[in-house]
Amino acid sequence: MKRSKISIIGAGNVGATTAHWAAAAELGDIVLLDIPQTEDMPKGKALDLFESSPIFGFDARVTGTNDYADTSGSDVVVITAGIPRKPGMSRDDLLATNAKIVGSVAAEVAKASPDAIIIVVSNPLDAMVQRAFQVSGFDRRRVIGQAGVLDTARYRSFIAAELDVSVEDVQAMLLGGHGDTMVPLLSCATVGGIPVTNLIKPERLAEIVQRTRDGGAEIVKLLKTGSAYYAPAAATAQMVEAIVKDKRRLIPCAVLCEKEYNVGGFCVGVPVILGKNGVERIIEIPLNAEEDAAFRNSVDAVKSLVDTMKKLV
Ligand code: NAI
Ligand code: 2OP
Repeated sequence: MKRSKISIIGAGNVGATTAHWAAAAELGDIVLLDIPQTEDMPKGKALDLFESSPIFGFDARVTGTNDYADTSGSDVVVITAGIPRKPGMSRDDLLATNAKIVGSVAAEVAKASPDAIIIVVSNPLDAMVQRAFQVSGFDRRRVIGQAGVLDTARYRSFIAAELDVSVEDVQAMLLGGHGDTMVPLLSCATVGGIPVTNLIKPERLAEIVQRTRDGGAEIVKLLKTGSAYYAPAAATAQMVEAIVKDKRRLIPCAVLCEKEYNVGGFCVGVPVILGKNGVERIIEIPLNAEEDAAFRNSVDAVKSLVDTMKKLV
């Protein structure tokens, strides 16, 4: 069977760690690309990772490059190119710089791999998905943002730690933008099938929800030199896996929503089924009044970011 070709644009912390998880899970051959100014850095990281293959026991080629020709014909392209935030910066502070970077990357990707499914990771996430969607000209099912898998993983970890239970038994869903307005849904969080609201008191749950919203900032504050990458990369690799193995995972991803949830043409996080064609389906779930208000607020934040981006690029 022919292996999938997975290219990762931006061989920094998230890109290289995504390559690591994806290679270890034997998801396909991996190409790591970074800008010419980084010279042989992507080649060095790729070779180092490839040399771990006999130890992990994975069969995959891992190569590095500064040239999009080496990424041609990719099945999946992950965009992690851009600058990360430093303490005191919000994801939105990255808008001007990363909109230009993601725009130029998406144009190259569309030329080199016209049939690829793009997973965008660069921040501010929802606006960057919108940018990649516009520039690539791809169908919306093939331009997908990674944020919800990370944010629900944080939510699930905190719930599991609170109850001292296995993370495997904690399920959760989250909507909206990847920012301070994200909406971790209480109505969809369960532990072993039991609603979390039956297990954790409302005041404590509210703290867990807030910690989830602040999850990225919590890591930035601790690291001081950049932002999170282990969990973001694991989340991205899980999306790659869903696509290359056609797993049809039901997970939150940022995708252009038109009539769905009455969003009207903006990229935001919603539950989707992710499979070999990218977004196989957007799942619409009924929201209670509080959740709906929080979701509208989050969509408005994304819209205003996209409006600002339009003036910048
Ligand atoms: P990093 O600084 O470690 O790596 C970024 C890499 O992108 C660098 O190697 C840089 O040379 C490269 N790059 C810059 N311009 C490029 C271009 N035009 N073409 C190709 N490569 C280019 O940053 P890190 O930590 O890997 O974060 C990457 C991005 O992902 C940031 O914008 C960050 O905010 C975002 N992020 C998003 C998450 C999410 O859940 N959506 C989670 C974590 C990070
Ligand atoms: C995070 O949530 C920085 O968006 C990134 O960690």
